[in-house]
Amino acid sequence: MPEPRVALDGVEMSFDGVRALDGFSFAAGAGEIVGLLGPNGAGKTTALHILLGFLKPTKGEVRVLGMSPFERRYDVYARVNFTSAYVQLPFNLTVERNLRIFAELYNVPEPEKKISALVERLGLGALRKAKTGALSSGEQTRLNLAKSLLNDPEVIFLDEPTASLDPDIADRVRELLKAERKERGVTMVYTSHNMAEVEALCDRVIFLNKGRKIAEGTPAEIRAKFGQETLEGVFLKVSREGAE
Ligand SMILES: Nc1ncnc2c1ncn2[C@@H]1O[C@H](COP(=O)(O)OP(=O)(O)OP(=O)(O)O)[C@@H](O)[C@H]1O
Ligand SMILES: [Mg+2]
Repeated sequence: MPEPRVALDGVEMSFDGVRALDGFSFAAGAGEIVGLLGPNGAGKTTALHILLGFLKPTKGEVRVLGMSPFERRYDVYARVNFTSAYVQLPFNLTVERNLRIFAELYNVPEPEKKISALVERLGLGALRKAKTGALSSGEQTRLNLAKSLLNDPEVIFLDEPTASLDPDIADRVRELLKAERKERGVTMVYTSHNMAEVEALCDRVIFLNKGRKIAEGTPAEIRAKFGQETLEGVFLKVSREGAE
């Protein structure tokens, strides 16, 4: 089996006595879209932050593109990216300026061309000169997504990337993510509370509850395992009854 692009092995993470992850392991290969699902506080964001090297786990192994994000931070950051509905780019800069700064940081070869293409695909064309602080939350989410695609990442970590998007834009974003996967084989590790979207986008889903993996498989396998017609049904069952 080829080396996975992303892997956690036996990861534990405690915050002052709160165990956010409790022996969590998973891996994702090239071109896979893996969804991390689970109730509020399950440990999803913590897992992404560990993969990004923002948080050092109390125990366990972390590998991204075969490297430790703690030991080879900049080699990893050159080849991955991250977007979250909860991270904002500097408010006083325009959309264009923010993207330009990141393009320079990432050494994007033809920044103007890349920025124009992403801005077009994400429907931000008319907002290029707008101050980032003046954008609606859905527009900021799209700007964050544009930022996360600037360096043609091999792996993207997406924390609720479609939260606050209207249904039309959310659909366009899903199409864009699928196209990125098809064209470049990008690996995505993604969280969402929108179960219909997860079914539409993910090859594989992992259900977390209280820091533990309680189920993993294709959306169809998970539905069958829990005897539910939808992932929404699985979610309700899992979060109300806990692990079986
Ligand atoms: N910096 C921190 N300090 C203390 N506790 C934290 C910290 N970050 C997360 N936690 C705790 O760890 C647990 C997991 O949090 P996490 O943010 O990973 O959940 P999540 O699955 O992303 O939830 P949500 O769906 O609400 O985004 C929670 O109990 C949370 O309170
Ligand atoms: Mg979260």
